[in-house]
Amino acid sequence: MAEQRLAILISGRGSNMVALAEAAREPGYPAKPVLVVSNRADAAGLAQAAAMGMHAVALPHRDYATRAAFDDALSDLLRAHAIDLIALAGFMRILTPGFIARWPGRILNIHPSLLPLYPGLDTHARALAAGDREAGCTVHVVTAHLDDGPILAQARVPILPGDTPDTLAARVLAQEHRLYPRALAEFAAGLPAAIGTAPASG
Ligand code: GRF
Repeated sequence: MAEQRLAILISGRGSNMVALAEAAREPGYPAKPVLVVSNRADAAGLAQAAAMGMHAVALPHRDYATRAAFDDALSDLLRAHAIDLIALAGFMRILTPGFIARWPGRILNIHPSLLPLYPGLDTHARALAAGDREAGCTVHVVTAHLDDGPILAQARVPILPGDTPDTLAARVLAQEHRLYPRALAEFAAGLPAAIGTAPASG
């Protein structure tokens, strides 16, 4: 089976990145996480990524005058590492349509709601305010529309009496860590042969 070279994009804690990297250690996992990029230099996940043997790079968006300039630099970095597949994992930055067009059908995201419910931020508070009985998370292919794009998998959790956004987030996060590695594996296994050719250039 072709092994897809995977880049994981983060902005903070990176617990989903760790879940993906741990799953990828299993023999036969169809993607190999080789690069972790954060748009924030202080992301806690960067040190963890390096400790797990991945190339960890801070690419602070504030160093770039425009969104497009940042996305160009990001694309160049991904190409230098011969990346085939990109997983957004708590990456708090909207990518330009131009960037997404350069990686068609090659970017996945995990979102902490049962899409199409609650795209955007504060998903758990919104689910609680709406009086929902259940919440969950969604893995989807990224398109030019925020938190839209073909849904690959979802996991559901109950909303319990007394839940706060934090207690609900923790219950959903545990499911994210199970769902993302599985959904990404299924997706990667179904992709055509890896598109990456050049070895990592540093
Ligand atoms: C997760 O809940 C993810 O769904 C959302 O941001 C959070 C990131 O957490 N997009 P982590 O950085 O993976 O721990």
